[in-house]
Amino acid sequence: MARLTAVILAAGKGTRMVSDLAKVLHNVNGRPMLSYVIDAARGAGADNILLVVGHGADQVKEVYGDDCLYCMQMPQLGTGHALQVALPYLPADCEDIMVICGDTPVISAETLSDFYLYYKKSDVSATVLAAELADPGGYGRIVRGADGNVERIVEQRDASEQEKQIKEINTGAYCFRLQDVAEVIADLQPNNAQGEYYLTDVIPALAAAGKSVNAQIMDDSKEFFGVNDRLQLAQAAKILRQRKCRQLMLAGVSIIDPKTTYIEDSVKIGPDTVIEPNVIIRGATVIGQGCFIGKDCDITDSIVGAGSSLKKAVLWEAQTGKNCNIGPFAYLRPGTVLSDNVKVGDFVEIKKSQIGTGSKVPHLSYIGDAVVGEKVNIGCGTITCNYDGYHKYPTEIGDGAFIGSNTNLVAPVKVGKNATVAAGSTITEAVPEEALGIARGKQANKEGWSAKKRKKEQELSNK
Ligand code: UD1
Ligand code: CA
Repeated sequence: MARLTAVILAAGKGTRMVSDLAKVLHNVNGRPMLSYVIDAARGAGADNILLVVGHGADQVKEVYGDDCLYCMQMPQLGTGHALQVALPYLPADCEDIMVICGDTPVISAETLSDFYLYYKKSDVSATVLAAELADPGGYGRIVRGADGNVERIVEQRDASEQEKQIKEINTGAYCFRLQDVAEVIADLQPNNAQGEYYLTDVIPALAAAGKSVNAQIMDDSKEFFGVNDRLQLAQAAKILRQRKCRQLMLAGVSIIDPKTTYIEDSVKIGPDTVIEPNVIIRGATVIGQGCFIGKDCDITDSIVGAGSSLKKAVLWEAQTGKNCNIGPFAYLRPGTVLSDNVKVGDFVEIKKSQIGTGSKVPHLSYIGDAVVGEKVNIGCGTITCNYDGYHKYPTEIGDGAFIGSNTNLVAPVKVGKNATVAAGSTITEAVPEEALGIARGKQANKEGWSAKKRKKEQELSNK
């Protein structure tokens, strides 16, 4: 098949976003909206992507680097002008171009792929991607001739009352035979309400040159939904979230309530995992098979091993092994690496620490900058005192060690294999293997003390 280049129009200012960020870079369910458009174009078979950039050009180039070709359109004199500017930058072997807008993140690869095939089969100079809308307000209307052929496209502002009744609209996506469009593009005139060079005027120009033009009417008109302000940004995000949930469910993930589940596009989740409502999963997170992600979990850029269970947990650049049991109310911060079968219970915070296979940190602990071996039990309320106000220091706990409740481990410090630390200790020196470390005030009992206290109080109140 002929070499296809996608020309993505992304030069506009996006004034209504009220933002310093280029409109097409605004985040939609975890990725810049332009990334969805680029992926859809590649999915439709585009060998190259040419981005027409203007406002925020540097920001866009920084994100996509060498993945795309670029051309600068400054000032922006309309969609037709954008293509005029783009043509000299097309690869030499390019035969067909697909022009799409950078602000329509909901468009799918399937739709664009279908569209390109439709264009190729029709053997025409141009195909417009059209849609039929009950409320076509604001869009360019497709005007067909008596024979049903596409004659021209008229913008809302330039349309007659009769033309405004037309329900068939231009979605803003086109396929063109490059050679044919190149012949007419230079002749566009800005004779319209906005004084712009309209890409849509290429259609009658091609027809006048004796070339054939047609339109494909798309099924799901939601897909060309364009983002112009933050309300539409939120609507697009909602559509893409639902799409992501749907893909995951079809791939074997149980999502109890897709409406309240926020899973970013880049996240991967294995089959037989169950996700409860009000969960947020972001970024490069990978969740294994057969996990349970309970209500209110918030997981970012983390790895969760197969068979693990998370309840009301916050994970951020953290990793769990298989069959771990986390929460409720656990906070795993960057650099946390749990091996398999680890238990992290309620009100536990772990940072930049490794916890070995089968170890437990069941309640009310802070573990930071620590290396904890296998089958270690860390008692309730244990704290690694890793910071002296200037530097962070490591704590090491050997395999099989038992740390009694309410222990302070003042780092740098080591607890040897199978050692025991007595509850309530403040450990400042190494505890050798197999030893008992005890570091707390010795208990003294004063016999009859309470009775004496009562007597004294009685005497005072009688005075
Ligand atoms: C355009 C179509 C309209 C169609 C609608 C679908 C024209 C004249 N009209 O109208 O028929 O129904 O899209 O959404 O094409 N852009 C540039 N450079 C420019 C102008 C625009 O890169 O000089 C980019 C914008 O950033 C945007 C896209 O092109 O991504 C569409 O431009 P916009 O001005 O929004 O066109 P519409 O008025 O929506
Ligand atoms: Ca628009």
